[in-house]
Amino acid sequence: MNILGIETSCDETAAGVVVDGMEVLSSVVSSQVELHGPYGGVVPEIACRSHVEVLPEVITGALDESGLDWCDLDALAVTYGPGLSSSLLVGISAAKALSFRLNIPLFGINHVEAHLYSVFLENKICSFKEACPFVALVVSGGHTSLIQVNGVGDYKLLGQTIDDAAGEAFDKGANLLGLGYPGGPAIDKLAHDGDPAFVRFPRGKPRKGKSHTGNLNPDFCFTFSGLKTSLLYYLKDNPLSGDGLQVASVAASYQEAIVDALINRCQKVIRKGGRLVLGGGVSLNSRLREKLKDLAGSSGFELMLPSPRFCADNAAMIAGLAGASVGLSGDAAATMDACPSLRLG
Ligand code: KG4
Ligand code: ZN
Repeated sequence: MNILGIETSCDETAAGVVVDGMEVLSSVVSSQVELHGPYGGVVPEIACRSHVEVLPEVITGALDESGLDWCDLDALAVTYGPGLSSSLLVGISAAKALSFRLNIPLFGINHVEAHLYSVFLENKICSFKEACPFVALVVSGGHTSLIQVNGVGDYKLLGQTIDDAAGEAFDKGANLLGLGYPGGPAIDKLAHDGDPAFVRFPRGKPRKGKSHTGNLNPDFCFTFSGLKTSLLYYLKDNPLSGDGLQVASVAASYQEAIVDALINRCQKVIRKGGRLVLGGGVSLNSRLREKLKDLAGSSGFELMLPSPRFCADNAAMIAGLAGASVGLSGDAAATMDACPSLRLG
């Protein structure tokens, strides 16, 4: 099955062709970072207009790069949630039109599920099905979730953030530090030159009975909004002096607090002999990768990290998941609408 995937859930316009859910023939990602940078975050109207403008050339680019022709495509796949409603609609409309014109089936894909699938792209060792059961940590600009994956399509949400997502914490922190948008890569790079023990920022933890964790165990949930506030107050009391080492050390300390919170929940959830799969833009973070590798070694679990090119938003993961026969299909896909708050399962 040659599947063309389309992804427009947030600020990346992406298309890619994947064979049988595994072999990536192309993955084209057009980033809108420069458009949103001046505003310090994603502006939905700008994101949706830009998707409309660039999606046609991104799709044809992905097809060209794959070496296939339109008639070689067996199916289409598109993200239908969660994400920004106006952005999702651009991809969905294009995918429905193409499916109708080419007379091939369409799949509707959950973006978070696709992130947890990204580790299986180009993976010659094990498939999604073979890797089950495992625990997935999906960490991105919009999501921070710990998911028990019992089988393909069989998920149990173990924990999630009760406020900001980890990527959002990176972005907001970078904004306060004057590092621009997106903040994750900037903090990650700068932190290499800093001391992570320079400031002890709080490792936020939702409290039992006092937090909005619903029926989830607070020990498996996250909170990052207090961390951002604590950086704000730190900077009020200790304005940046222009000393490069000071900025790098504050960035490294801030990053350490986010990474420690993520590591701590993984430590609680994952058992010896188990398996942890990482996904989402924050899984590019070098400190998180390093500390998770250490933890996997000392605790005796297997860690599966996605290849860097499939961590952040891309369409190969969308086409890949459809190739594993996951997602809406048939009439449900033909009539699907954008689901901004789509949940797993
Ligand atoms: O998965 P993604 O591309 O989009 C969403 O689904 O949200 O993730 C984007 C997020 C941004 O918040 C960005 O700052 C963060 O991933 N990010 C990083 C790094 N690279 C991207 N965070 C920490 N360290 C990085 N190296
Ligand atoms: Zn994403």
